[in-house]
Amino acid sequence: MRSFLPLFALLLGAGGARADRYHPADPGARSAAVNRAELNSAFWTSEAQAAIEARLAQRESKQRARNVVMFLGDGMSVPTLAAARTLLGQRRGATGEETKMHFETFPTVGLAKTYCVNAQIADSACTATAYLCGVKTNSGVIGVNANVPRNDCAASTDAGTHLRSIAEWALEDGRDAGVVTTTRVTHASPAGVFAKVANRTWEFNAQVEEHGYDTERCPDIALQLIHKHPGNKLKVILGGGRRNFLPEDIRDEEGSRGRRTDNRHLINEWKQEKEDRGVSHQYVWNREQLLQANNSLPDYLLGLFESSHMQYHMESNKETEPTLAEMTEVAIRSLSRNENGFFLFVEGGRIDHAHHDNLVHLSLDETLEMDAAVARAAEMLSEEDSLIVVTADHAHVMAFNGYSLRGRDILGPSRDLDDDGIPYMTLSYTNGPGFRSHINGIRPNVTAEDGYSNGALEWLSHVDVPLESETHGGDDVAVFARGPHHSLFTGLYEQSQLPHLMAYAACMGPGRHACTGAAAAAAPLAFLTVLVLLTSLFIQ
Ligand SMILES: *[C@@H]1O[C@H](CO)[C@@H](O)[C@H](O)[C@H]1NC(C)=O
Ligand SMILES: *[C@@H]1O[C@H](CO)[C@@H](O)[C@H](O)[C@H]1NC(C)=O
Ligand SMILES: *[C@@H]1O[C@H](CO)[C@@H](O)[C@H](O)[C@H]1NC(C)=O
Ligand SMILES: [Zn+2]
Repeated sequence: MRSFLPLFALLLGAGGARADRYHPADPGARSAAVNRAELNSAFWTSEAQAAIEARLAQRESKQRARNVVMFLGDGMSVPTLAAARTLLGQRRGATGEETKMHFETFPTVGLAKTYCVNAQIADSACTATAYLCGVKTNSGVIGVNANVPRNDCAASTDAGTHLRSIAEWALEDGRDAGVVTTTRVTHASPAGVFAKVANRTWEFNAQVEEHGYDTERCPDIALQLIHKHPGNKLKVILGGGRRNFLPEDIRDEEGSRGRRTDNRHLINEWKQEKEDRGVSHQYVWNREQLLQANNSLPDYLLGLFESSHMQYHMESNKETEPTLAEMTEVAIRSLSRNENGFFLFVEGGRIDHAHHDNLVHLSLDETLEMDAAVARAAEMLSEEDSLIVVTADHAHVMAFNGYSLRGRDILGPSRDLDDDGIPYMTLSYTNGPGFRSHINGIRPNVTAEDGYSNGALEWLSHVDVPLESETHGGDDVAVFARGPHHSLFTGLYEQSQLPHLMAYAACMGPGRHACTGAAAAAAPLAFLTVLVLLTSLFIQ
């Protein structure tokens, strides 16, 4: 029966039936949720005219960007954006597709190519190196160039392979820097801010020593964060991952054991180091303490809210877990005390985890949580002097598909059925966990499963290729920018250009700067210096 359907469709197509075989007829179109105003052509033409006016009225600040905040949605693919904005609108009772997330209103949008030196499809380590250090490298390594093969401790001790991140450029320029994430603070994306490591899994000492390597030569990521430049200069560090900082015989505040086998208590060492430098500091491990710290900010703030990653927002204990927006707000308030400005990295890190586990509702919600954090930052920082860039490291293989009518539940099945008349989901994955065996060649009806009808957050959509963990995608990711020199971020370009563009707008780091005033003043000075030198040569 199944194999005859395409033939039947082909015959229909050849016979000139109204619907072509690529785009089936749409008998239910009239029952769609439709905004009556949209029936009117004037609705669309005036929407477009208003957009033109808004673009023409837009000013682009040509000031130096004093502050730079980079938001990274880990695994936040373009289909993830479309699905998340639809969910946002539907939560507000609208059809959803027309909704915009806050960062989708930013004046400039571009696309970044995410491949790495040795990988068609990237991981979060080589991409962090690209978008924070400005150099593409090998999959799995962080803060070192592609001369370092993954896991090669010896190669990574060559200082010539080490890269400096935009946080280091900011610190050198007298600005402050900070990191906020919903993952372990030692995870690949945040580690791009401060670590130089040949294997992203070397988050604590035992992972390095397991390979027979010495942490003196190849320090683990937690150790680098607490004791090495620039980790030890970061004014704000907020996220999860306590276990990588604690000895294995010590239980943290919530009862989980540490992972370190070198008996080092890096949280205490962090406090001691600040003590020795005579700077005020505070370690917090829950939301209430964070909000208290917000009332009298220390010079240095370390917040570790979970043993491992922070909880998914929809499943979180609201007493202990701050939201990404709250962490972002405290970080910005803290860093804003430096008149020279700051660089802040904020990661919505679990968009990626939820995709890997085929938990699409959680992934979209984590995207919306990051959007709320962007909105908070945009409220606190002026477009005149603060650049905000929002992007992703790599894509995922979630598909947004079918021919549903307008306003259809984004988390539900498509309106149309497969060739056997079985429903399929609007959002599903090319690969990953959640494969269901076909019965007599026919897909099971997943919408008949209890998990689906109960709306369980842990219910899995269907996939084509069974895999324990859904994979990343190789497509480009979007880049949104607001603030000084935002138009630099338009176009399609290598992901590794991002920190260079941010540094250009902020007039810091190596390379060319936007501050032409300063450059113009510097040029005659350089000319004069050469003249003086030449003169002195001749006089001799
Ligand atoms: C990276 O380190 C982890 C943990 O020590 C190990 O399991 C993995 O095999 C290493 N990766 C490579 C490519 O050697
Ligand atoms: C932090 O403190 C400021 C100033 O008192 C306040 O406006 C803000 O709401 C606080 N933020 C949080 C997350 O509590
Ligand atoms: C699939 O399951 C849903 C929910 O139980 C049911 O309404 C629908 O009729 C089923 N479709 C088929 C083709 O079995
Ligand atoms: Zn991932």
